[in-house]
Amino acid sequence: MTGDLSPIDKAKFVAAKRAADLVESGMRVGLGTGSTAAWLVRCLGEMVRQEGLKFKGVPTSTRTAALAREVGIEVVSLDEARWLDLTIDGADEFDGDLNLIKGGGGALLQEKIVATASDQMVVIADIGKEVETLGAFPLPCEVIPFGWQTTKALVEETLIQMDVLGRNTTLRMNGDAPFVTDEGNYILDCHLKRIGNPRQLAMVLNQMPGVVENGLFIDICDIVVIGFGDGRVELR
Ligand code: 5RP
Repeated sequence: MTGDLSPIDKAKFVAAKRAADLVESGMRVGLGTGSTAAWLVRCLGEMVRQEGLKFKGVPTSTRTAALAREVGIEVVSLDEARWLDLTIDGADEFDGDLNLIKGGGGALLQEKIVATASDQMVVIADIGKEVETLGAFPLPCEVIPFGWQTTKALVEETLIQMDVLGRNTTLRMNGDAPFVTDEGNYILDCHLKRIGNPRQLAMVLNQMPGVVENGLFIDICDIVVIGFGDGRVELR
């Protein structure tokens, strides 16, 4: 499954592998989205096939659902599972308080719903995702297509009032067309550089009509499993 991996892929793989060992038969497990989460799904698929692991997986995107089915994981919806033992997902950034920026892959809405419905959220990440202060990675904000330009202007105006360092927002594109999420929404990427008060920003953004959800995960993550290019793993 691993072959000759680049240091970054090795870091993602070892973090995913360590987290996969937390999954036990009988569990209901949220399956994240992104390249690191894809390693997790492949590891779990191997455990299903080779070790007889039996669990129900709740994917956080159509991409993850397709991969999970392909590797032999039993896939159920969140409403079928109702409450989850564990969610394992990647992140774009994490800080010392284990607050996160997520949504680089555009799946932040399902990811936040699934993580919030879980007893525990474990993040898997390469060491490059660790930051002192969140915000160098553009913060994804999912907005409904209706009036998105007005919502964009409102978000930018609010960022000015909050005195955030960067205020520029861009509509995420997929070629010549807007990127569309699994829920049929658009994504505004907010180029903030530094987020001084992530808790406040998360609340303010979500109060705006037109904003469905933002990519700040505050007090949701319990553990970060960090992978290194030399194969080491550390827990935070
Ligand atoms: C998708 C996400 C991903 O978890 C995040 O973008 C990290 O992705 P990768 O593991 O590919 O670096 O939030 O919406």
